[in-house]
Amino acid sequence: MRAIPFAALAGLLLAACTASVRPVEQDGTGLWLAAGRPVDAIIASVETQIDPALPAEGFHIYDAGGVRHIDAGSEAGLRYGLYALQRAEVLKQAGPGMDLQEKPYYDLRLLNHWDNLDDTVERGYAGLSMWEWTAADIPVERIRRYGELCASVGLNGSVLNNVNSNPLILDAEHIARVAKIADILREYGIKTYLSIKWTSPITLSGLKSGDPLDPKVRQWWKDKAAEIYAAIPDFGGFLVKANSEGQAGPQDYGRTHADGANMLAEALAPYGGIVMWRAFVYAPTSPDRANQAVEEFLPLDGQFADNVIIQVKNGPVDFQPREPFSPLFGKLRNTKTMMEFQITQEYLGFSNHLAYHGTTWEECLDADTYRDGPGSPVAKMVTAIAGVANTGQDPNFCGYVFAQANWYAFGRLAWNPELGAEQIADEWIRQTFLMPEGMKEKAFDKKFVAPVRDILMASREAVVDYEMPLGLHHLFGGTHYGPAPWERLGRPDWTPAYYHKADSAGIGFDRTRAGSDNVDQYNEPLASTYNDLATCPENLLLWFHHLPWDYKLSSGKTLWDEICLHYDRGIKTVESFRATWQGLKPYVSPALWEETDRKLTIQASDGRWWRDACVGYFQTFSGRPLPADVEPRRTPIDPLIYRSILSDRLGMPQHDEAGDPIIMMPRRFRRP
Ligand code: GCU
Repeated sequence: MRAIPFAALAGLLLAACTASVRPVEQDGTGLWLAAGRPVDAIIASVETQIDPALPAEGFHIYDAGGVRHIDAGSEAGLRYGLYALQRAEVLKQAGPGMDLQEKPYYDLRLLNHWDNLDDTVERGYAGLSMWEWTAADIPVERIRRYGELCASVGLNGSVLNNVNSNPLILDAEHIARVAKIADILREYGIKTYLSIKWTSPITLSGLKSGDPLDPKVRQWWKDKAAEIYAAIPDFGGFLVKANSEGQAGPQDYGRTHADGANMLAEALAPYGGIVMWRAFVYAPTSPDRANQAVEEFLPLDGQFADNVIIQVKNGPVDFQPREPFSPLFGKLRNTKTMMEFQITQEYLGFSNHLAYHGTTWEECLDADTYRDGPGSPVAKMVTAIAGVANTGQDPNFCGYVFAQANWYAFGRLAWNPELGAEQIADEWIRQTFLMPEGMKEKAFDKKFVAPVRDILMASREAVVDYEMPLGLHHLFGGTHYGPAPWERLGRPDWTPAYYHKADSAGIGFDRTRAGSDNVDQYNEPLASTYNDLATCPENLLLWFHHLPWDYKLSSGKTLWDEICLHYDRGIKTVESFRATWQGLKPYVSPALWEETDRKLTIQASDGRWWRDACVGYFQTFSGRPLPADVEPRRTPIDPLIYRSILSDRLGMPQHDEAGDPIIMMPRRFRRP
């Protein structure tokens, strides 16, 4: 063992001084580090040493000889230990005799930033890119703060740019800039990765082809890897979106995903770099988009190089409020896979809606794939984990204090996927919100922590209810903010009608053995469970089955009535959040209270808009009245249909003073 040199902690010390804020002044910029003791004070109060016998990123906190110790396998482990102690102090779990030994579950715990070189952020709702690509220099202070936040929850990798990559990310100017960012992130134990565009050799160097078996193309990537590693010796590797949503890829040259991934893997292997190859593939001609990843990747199982890992979205379609887990997790046996969650709320109300994803991700990680018999949860099938970030230039990073909970929860689950969503919610609240001066711990727990935790825990199901209950999915309009179940433009698999298949007979996507047979991409007994109406979970009913409007659910009510009741329940749940929040005014700063109050008002109003649009539209097929005990619709369907929300230049939805969405006819539907 050796004592850790002071220099190794310099990065921490530089960035760790969280300004002390009084509860009334709290503005959300402290994130979950707001309530903890500054890390420099913690460093000063403990003995630290590196113990090579401990796991590389692991730590051990314990008391001996009247002194608190943190031993760690590396500097990164030490940093995690310091933040674990900070957390334990806030949670009142750091009393005398504390003994906590931890190591991360996954080696790779990454954020994927969908940031573009023009500073816009694809599906970003917290301002422009936090990396400020277009500015003269990199934003050092923000990057340090980001490094600290990531390290505090154990994240150790960042893909800096959008999967829809601009080839210029690999030109000399950008590599130099990325190297400067990597120099800072390294101080926080974070490796830097880049998304690459398949056609980079063509665009940047005028090569005639992107064929992965062409020696010139292979050499180009080897030279590029050498250039990157000369600037960033610990560069992590590439994230690749290829032959997906119009992006080029090896299939354009008659080659496979494995040919493409392995070519890049060969270029990176000498330096220890990896390729994260995305399985997000689907074609407009397919009768069921949900089948495609398995169809394309299962035949390639075992053909990928050792330093390739297939990055799979949690569900088979696209980060919907609820999806079953992707069947690929239970199918690939000889290929490494990693989870891709979406932290940014592309489909859950952007940074306007309170939607805690801890429960979404817990549901997925815990789901049994039966790959190796019962007890084969998704969490154990993957060897790494990534989350699409929700960060931007906003002073609070996420555009909404409650959106910060999702970044936090992602980090905690990446560290330990066996943690419960409720525990994580509880931790986040206590670390984020300062207890009002003079208030007793117990009272704070009862009056503030518990009700906020209840809101978080109910929030995702509320969104499912008011957006797309009972297994409905992809009912979105253009920006993915509001409802457009009527939309039939463009590619069929980009339009809601492809997914809900509502007609006078009923609604839902038949993925049973009589339909697209998606069920058989799951291992037994799941395949039969989903196939059989009697056993299919009701929360996925219309994902797997097309059912008549008068089909009876377990409640004894008809499908039509249950659809209406779920939308109604979603709205009522958000109204209950608003009511709870009214009573929480004394415990938070005016700034945080007002931000949340306004956003909950918007959320409730958006929920009604979703209900009016979806129930109103589906009613044109069902021809049935709304059940008596639901709130009447606010707006009839005619003024809503073919309308969508007014958005600003960055795609942010606009609401009026009352928090109601400003609905308008999109230009494409207007008469000239
Ligand atoms: C979704 C999202 C796109 C994104 C894509 C992806 O379709 O809407 O913006 O590029 O996923 O994950 O590649």
